[in-house]
Amino acid sequence: MSIISNCTATAIKDAAAALVKGDLVAFPTETVYGLGADATNEDAIARIYKAKGRPIGHPLIVHISSLGKLDKWARDIPEYAVKLARAFWPGPMTLVLRRTDLAKNFITGGQDNVGIRIPSHTVALALLKEFEDQGGLGVAAPSANRFGAVSPTAASAVEIELADFLSKNDQILDGGPCTIGVESTIINCTQNKPSILRPGAVTKEMIEDTLGITIDLDTSNSESIQIQAPGLLESHYAPNAKVFLTGTPTLGDGFIALDSFTTPAGAIRVAAPKTNEEYAQVLYEAFRLADIKGLGRVFVIPPTGDGIAVAINDRLAKSAFEK
Ligand code: TXA
Ligand code: MG
Repeated sequence: MSIISNCTATAIKDAAAALVKGDLVAFPTETVYGLGADATNEDAIARIYKAKGRPIGHPLIVHISSLGKLDKWARDIPEYAVKLARAFWPGPMTLVLRRTDLAKNFITGGQDNVGIRIPSHTVALALLKEFEDQGGLGVAAPSANRFGAVSPTAASAVEIELADFLSKNDQILDGGPCTIGVESTIINCTQNKPSILRPGAVTKEMIEDTLGITIDLDTSNSESIQIQAPGLLESHYAPNAKVFLTGTPTLGDGFIALDSFTTPAGAIRVAAPKTNEEYAQVLYEAFRLADIKGLGRVFVIPPTGDGIAVAINDRLAKSAFEK
């Protein structure tokens, strides 16, 4: 595996060629780093599952470079989905749409729908565009972490997660730290009305303002659609340290809260974001820092309010779920 720290045009060309050959390329997006493979190559997709230790049948998001490519993967696209695509792509949003024959069972987990995203990170967009110029149709990319672990928001975190599971020709593109820090909003667009399966930086309010309707937050289905062992999935986004969302830390426990909260006596502060946006940006690195420090417990004061706080609270609840 090689780490490419200078993502020049030549490096992007090489990375796209690696994808075309069936190798894996981890790349930055504005949300989290993804582990990419050619979404039409069954063997390459099988390697993603293996590298992540992810149960088979858990669907993958297909990343494309522009709206012009959407029809290749999705059909019967509702008007409201087109509006969302125009408003929020490229960006931190995934639309679940009815699939075309191109989206095989090994991508969709056997469902009749497929998740599609156009990310806005310049390295991601350049890679997707170059891959398409070399004949590719889409890049499947789950978050570049081991199954159930914390998503990587920096190339160093991808390396820590996956170095032992990648092969000689695989690559990690370093595009710096992710600016958003939590995974994309996933919106189910297969019904009359959209619903949010996983909250993210494209918030309920933003979607409602764009469409002029009220929508549901349907996170009961989030991360668990078509999963044989749903219980497995309640614990997700979790560090090795045990996460507590209530209670007070004591000597040697980790502590995460907005900067306005003072650190309880004896606790080890691993993050002190000034805003909810910064909270999202630093949360996963704070979890990693807690693990590097070997902390057994991390106490978190969750952010309040709507907007990105909803996504942060969703991930915190999953990270604190008893394993
Ligand atoms: O921000 C993100 O979305 C990142 C970056 C790399 O794009 N990707 C990501 O992928 O978070 P992943 O695989 O770690 O999480 C995607 C979630 C999974 O829980 C999966 O079950 C769900 O999206 N998903 C994917 N396709 C779906 C589909 N067709 N229907 C319902 N859920 C789907
Ligand atoms: Mg993930």
